Amino acid sequence: GRPLVVAIDGPSGSGKSSVSKEVARRLRVAYLDTGAMYRAVAWDCLEKGIDLTDGALVEAAARALELELSTSPDHERVLVRGTDATDAIRDPRISASVSAVATNLGVRDELIRRQRALISEHGRRIVVEGRDITTVVAPDAEVRLLLTASEEARLRRRGAQLGGTQSDEQLAQQVLERDAKDSAVASFTRAADGVYTVDSSDLDFEQTVTAVLGVVHAVV
Ligand code: C5P
Repeated sequence: GRPLVVAIDGPSGSGKSSVSKEVARRLRVAYLDTGAMYRAVAWDCLEKGIDLTDGALVEAAARALELELSTSPDHERVLVRGTDATDAIRDPRISASVSAVATNLGVRDELIRRQRALISEHGRRIVVEGRDITTVVAPDAEVRLLLTASEEARLRRRGAQLGGTQSDEQLAQQVLERDAKDSAVASFTRAADGVYTVDSSDLDFEQTVTAVLGVVHAVV
C-alpha cells in the first residue's frame, strides 16, 4: 500500500497508547510505542546498576541496547537482551526514572535513529506514538496529531489504569512531575504548525478513536 505514517504525540494519561493501538488495528498498519524504548533503556540501566545521572554511561547503554519490540498492535512485547521486560518497563520505578534517560541527548539520538529505521522497515505504514514524533522523528508523516486532555481527565484515567490504588497526591505527583520533566524533552502541549489537535477530555475511548480516524481520512 501507499505510505501512511500516523504520528501521534501527547502527554501521559491522554489515552495515547490505547487509542494509537486501536487506530493502527483499524488501519491495518504497524504500531510503534516509542515510550517503551525509553523505558527499556531505563530498565536496562537499573538492571546493570548504572547511575542514571552518569550521562556517558547511560548513552553507551542505549547505543549497545539489544532491544526487540513487537510492532503488532495486538501483542505488546519488549525483549531486552532476550529477556521479556514487557511488564517490568511499566513499573512505577521505571516511570519515575525514565525522564532522566529521555533528557540524555545521546540516548535520544540513538533511539530516534532506531525509530526512523523501524518506520522504513514497515514500508512507512505505521502509527508511531510518543512526545517528539510529529516534530522530530517523523515531521514528514502523512498525518500528524497531538492528543491532549485536561489535567483532570488525565489524572482520572491514570488513576483508573493503576486500579485506584494510589492516593490523589501520589497520582498528581507521578503524572504532573513527569510532565514537567518531559517538557524539557519536547513541546507536546501545543501543536506545531500543520499538526492537528484532538482533545479527548470529554470523549470516551470510542469517540477518541473515531476523532483520530476522522483526521486520518480527512488528510489522506
Ligand atoms: O509514553 P510513555 O509514558 O510510556 O513514555 C515514557 C517516557 O519516555 C516519557 O515520560 C518521556 O520521558 C520519554 N519519551 C520521550 N520521547 C518519546 C516517547 C517517550 O522522551 N518520543
